[in-house]
Amino acid sequence: MVEEQRQEQKQTLIDPVEQKPGFDQTESQVAILGHPIHAMSVAFPIALTFATFAADLGYWYTGDPFWARAALWAVGAGFWLGMLAGFSGTAELLLVPGIRARAASWTHFIIAVTLLSVLGANWGARLSGYEAAVLPQGLLLSTLAVVLVGFTGWHGGKLVFDHRLGISKGS
Ligand code: HEM
Repeated sequence: MVEEQRQEQKQTLIDPVEQKPGFDQTESQVAILGHPIHAMSVAFPIALTFATFAADLGYWYTGDPFWARAALWAVGAGFWLGMLAGFSGTAELLLVPGIRARAASWTHFIIAVTLLSVLGANWGARLSGYEAAVLPQGLLLSTLAVVLVGFTGWHGGKLVFDHRLGISKGS
């Protein structure tokens, strides 16, 4: 009985977003031989964000300038590779109608851009003195970036595994 009512409700309630043309078109279009470039490129900014945090902790613990220099390079590379990953993600968002139509994709975009801003600020602040920039503001920004990258990566995973965005419909 309950199941019947559910079915009836499903038939009468129409989600206007689901009616948009191309709603079911969610396959990646920014890909090499079917492998989405975004998924391949996000590993670098994720790893480098964690590396920056670790290097900052290394500098805090040892006072060795090597760690401050390592953090400068890690956060710079993380920022620019994150921008590259962001471009491929944005292209996917704008080009694929089923990705563009879902609110979750835009949520991911907003969290990711916040992360990129923090990475950019963390890199820029170190350019005029990479040792002085670490404590405390560099370490604080690195900590914030680790939280944000965790959230961005987890949410990106949700887009793929829960919403099934960017996946191949073949086979
Ligand atoms: C700035 C704009 C960004 C947009 C518009 C965007 C958009 C997307 C989209 C549409 C997907 C679904 C898969 C696909 O279509 O390729 C995705 C997945 C994902 N995104 Fe992003 N993204 C952005 C930036 C980032 C950044 C900076 C990171 C991490 C540093 C990130 C991490 C992820 C991860 C981990 C996945 C799941 C990949 C997988 O498991 O296959 N994204 N993103």
